[in-house]
Amino acid sequence: MNTDGSIAERPKNTIDWQALRHDFPILHQEVNGHPLVYLDNAATSQKPRRVIDALCHYYENDNANVHRGVHELSNRASAAYEGARNRAAQFVNARSADEIVFTRGTTEAINLVAQAWGTQHIKAGDKILLTEMEHHSNIVPWQLLAARVGAELVYLPVICDQGQLDLSRLDEWLTSDVKLFAMTHISNTLGTVNPVAELCARARKVGAVTLVDGAQSAGHCLIDVQEIGCDFLAFSGHKMCGPTGIGVLYGRLERLEATPPYQGGGDMISTVEFQSSTWNKVPHKFEAGTPHISGAIGLHAAMDYLDAIGRENIAQHDHELAAYAYGELAQLKGIRLFGPHIGRAGVVSFLAADVHAHDLVTVADQRGVALRGGHHCNQPLMKKLGVESTARASFYFYNTRSEVDRLVEVLKEIQKFFGGNS
Ligand code: ALA
Repeated sequence: MNTDGSIAERPKNTIDWQALRHDFPILHQEVNGHPLVYLDNAATSQKPRRVIDALCHYYENDNANVHRGVHELSNRASAAYEGARNRAAQFVNARSADEIVFTRGTTEAINLVAQAWGTQHIKAGDKILLTEMEHHSNIVPWQLLAARVGAELVYLPVICDQGQLDLSRLDEWLTSDVKLFAMTHISNTLGTVNPVAELCARARKVGAVTLVDGAQSAGHCLIDVQEIGCDFLAFSGHKMCGPTGIGVLYGRLERLEATPPYQGGGDMISTVEFQSSTWNKVPHKFEAGTPHISGAIGLHAAMDYLDAIGRENIAQHDHELAAYAYGELAQLKGIRLFGPHIGRAGVVSFLAADVHAHDLVTVADQRGVALRGGHHCNQPLMKKLGVESTARASFYFYNTRSEVDRLVEVLKEIQKFFGGNS
């Protein structure tokens, strides 16, 4: 870190990943008497000092409501909030900051599209295409919409033993009655990286609108919405070093303009009369009420932090660490691994014979290793895979090979403890 608190640009392949850990105060603690090994980054990432400082700085110096006052603090808060919007546009290579709507996170962004855009544009008999590896947040909002308007949900299948979508059957599913194709970029359970640009191009050919769930990808690899060619993309700040409660909906301008408001309240209106109102312009039309100003400011700091490291470098590090973990776990007897054998993102799901995933993560926690166990908000995928739950290790750039070694050591102890293979 530079003396002014900024992060120096690091040339490719010369990053001292171990040194970056010093930017994260939370990582340097013992949990249950052991050094913390935090491997639950798909659930939420940790926050660097720079983001924590940005939040403190805002509350200590600039706190005021945005777009309302004409006083100095309100002007500063408004400039910082809109600055974060510009930064988010640049982060995903949107054509304009008007294409960036701040939301509470990925879930709210998808609900906004399903409720506001979907209710207007999806009709009875239309199909909504999803994939079998979607998170509940990219299933349930579409179920609510489908029930409301009489549309049908269809799912592109997953090939279980490969952990990949069955793209050879895409034409069977992507028919002209599909009006919306919503897909995850990176699976939070399988670690699969889907070819979203290709999927969006294929959707365009049948006239379907596309939504990409970027919750697991936005902080882990470069995202270019123009290259992907999606109509909508959703992501969350807290999974990419930013605060909780802030996220982004990118929407192609013409799509946002053709979308009615999501929620009513202050700031989203142009004029209000007792019986009717007119709407503010995009994107403010979708941001009713006082927004999460500090969240946007913290997210801005997180985007700067990640880009100083380089998201292509982070992607490579994630990939190498996950491949290493997959290889090491594959050598343990009695471990079943899920997802693609190669080309995975930083997520490894697994089960140990005769040990329930919840027991596994509980005992791992007693040894300081934070994993997630459960259905990971992927119940339909779990059913398809024939399991109720998995244990999951999910990595970020501050994780190291020695932490993977610690995971393997702990897993061997767990297998011994439960009388399984080792
Ligand atoms: N979607 C988050 C996860 O996979 C919460 O853990």
